[in-house]
Amino acid sequence: MLSSRIQILADKAAVVERSLDLVTKRIHSAIAEKEYCTISLAGGSTPKPLYEALAQQPIPCEALHVFWGDERYVPSDHPDSNQKMVRQAWLDKISIPAKNIHPVPTEADDPQQAVALYEQELQAFFEVEAGEFPRFDIMLLGMGDDGHTASLFPHTPALEVSDRLVTIGEKGGQTRISLTAPLINRSQCIIFMVSGAGKAPALAQVLQNSQADTADYPARLIQAEGELWWFVDEAAAAQITP
Ligand code: 6PG
Repeated sequence: MLSSRIQILADKAAVVERSLDLVTKRIHSAIAEKEYCTISLAGGSTPKPLYEALAQQPIPCEALHVFWGDERYVPSDHPDSNQKMVRQAWLDKISIPAKNIHPVPTEADDPQQAVALYEQELQAFFEVEAGEFPRFDIMLLGMGDDGHTASLFPHTPALEVSDRLVTIGEKGGQTRISLTAPLINRSQCIIFMVSGAGKAPALAQVLQNSQADTADYPARLIQAEGELWWFVDEAAAAQITP
C-alpha cells in the first residue's frame, strides 16, 4: 500500500501542477507563521516548468529566500548552471530582492572553497553554529535514472558526509556542490518531482525495496523529519506496486 504522500499522476504536467499547489501553500503558510519562507531548489529539467508557473503566482517575494540544493561547478552564466536556469524561469520575472537569492558561489577558486563559503552563508542566514543543521521550509528534489538526488550520486564520498551542511558531489567527471543528506532531511517539507520512464527502475528500488542499498540508490537516504512527498508520473511509476 503506497503512502498517501506518494502520488502517481498522469504525466509531467500533472506532477508540476500538483507540486505548484503544495509549494504555494507551504510558502504562504511559512510566511504567515514566521514572516519569511526558505526554499531550496532542485536543478535539472523536471522542475523548470514549476519555476515558470511560480513566476505567475502572487507570492510575497520580499519574504521568500531562495537557495539551491545543488549546483554544477560552473560559472553562473554557463548553460549547465542551475542558478541560470532558475533565474531565467522564475527569479528574473519577479521583484525578489537580490539579498533573498542565495546561489552556490561557483566563482570561488576551487570547489572546496565554494563548499565552505556556502556553508558559511547558510550558517549566517539561519543563525546556527558549526555542527547545527538548520531547517528549510521547503526542499525541492529530483531523482536521476541512477537514483541520485541533489548531487548525491551513487558510490561517492558525498553519501557518507554526516557532519557538514554542504559537500562536493561527483557525477563522472563533473564536479558538483550539494547539500548533504542530513541537512536535506531536516527540512519541514520535502517534495520529490519525478517524471519519465527512465526513472522507473530506480524509483521502484527507492520506494519499494527496503533492502536496496543507499549507496546504489542515494535517494533512499532521504527520510524527512517533516513531510516527504513524492509526485511521480505514470511513466516513472511503471514498476511501482500501488
Ligand atoms: C541537477 C539536479 C539533479 C536532478 C536529477 C533529475 O543539478 O541535475 O539537482 O539532482 O534533480 O538529476 O534531473 P531531471 O529532472 O532533469 O530528470
